[in-house]
Amino acid sequence: MTSITLRRPDDLHLHLRDGESMRSVLPYTAARFARALIMPNLHPPVLSTEQALAYRRRILDALPTGVPFEPLMTLYLTDRTDPAEVDRAKASGCIVGLKLYPAGATTHSDAGVTAIRKVDAVLSRMEEQDLVLEVHGEVTDPEVDVFEREARFIDQVLAPLAARFPRLRIVFEHITTRAAAQFVLGSRPGIAATLTPQHLLMNRNALFAGGIRPHHYCLPLLKSEADREALLGVVASGDPRFFLGTDSAPHARGAKEVACGCAGIFSAHAGIELYAEAFEAAGALGRLEAFASEHGADFYRLPRNTGRLTLVKAPWEVPRSCPFGAEELVPLRAGEHIGWRLQERQ
Ligand code: NCD
Ligand code: ZN
Repeated sequence: MTSITLRRPDDLHLHLRDGESMRSVLPYTAARFARALIMPNLHPPVLSTEQALAYRRRILDALPTGVPFEPLMTLYLTDRTDPAEVDRAKASGCIVGLKLYPAGATTHSDAGVTAIRKVDAVLSRMEEQDLVLEVHGEVTDPEVDVFEREARFIDQVLAPLAARFPRLRIVFEHITTRAAAQFVLGSRPGIAATLTPQHLLMNRNALFAGGIRPHHYCLPLLKSEADREALLGVVASGDPRFFLGTDSAPHARGAKEVACGCAGIFSAHAGIELYAEAFEAAGALGRLEAFASEHGADFYRLPRNTGRLTLVKAPWEVPRSCPFGAEELVPLRAGEHIGWRLQERQ
């Protein structure tokens, strides 16, 4: 196959940042995706409907002229979120979910939830209003092995939560393990998961290939080859509970190439091309369109996009760096090749 045409996809997990940094990265996403679910972990975080609507406006104002793109907004859940905020979010028509970051789990998560029981009233209101809960699924206990934190989260937090709120729709974000894939497969209706390109394409050896690789460091961490194979297995099966969320998370080069570097992999420059590679390698290119353009829209009860996008099998070399506000960032595969290329809009 030398080209593939898809219904225009949605990126259902994206970090856009703000200001000049956002202006640098947004065009990559808008060139590929019709919509993206925008993560609220700004500094300070997006806590209220008012803040989310203002952020949405800044995103729309930063779009290149003539490029249609719809940001789907999320609120950052904290111990102090008021259930009435859920009502306001729903009424806005622009906010589709609330994001649960266990406090301290990842970049800008210090305002996150310290104990799940503290947000019971909010979760109950979300269930009533049918807003989606997006979950960063890792425990934060420093005693727990870093590679075990996702599996532990399922048992300690997610499974009981899904049972206590049986109608709450939940997205288990950026799953990385066989355990997470199996949890979703065995769970009640209303539970789905996003998968990133890096967790489909790399295992944890990529963190240490010839030396320490800060640009392969993200959270949750890359996992074992057996885990990666399990993730490829579920996406290749075409199960509608699994869909695209890049978790593209830009950081300036200096924040990553340092003694204590930030977590986050930037993939928006090839946000659909990398998945095409992964699906092709799994012999499942025919499943890419549903994964990228249908399952997520259906789960979020959004209309499927009507536009089209074409990928051509023509390797290209990824730049060694991209501008990022006044700084630069190092994209995934910098200086190396990607097998599929986006055909520019005619
Ligand atoms: C994200 C970021 O940089 O905002 N980093 C990451 O490694 N994925 C935060 C997150 O989604 O965990
Ligand atoms: Zn993320």
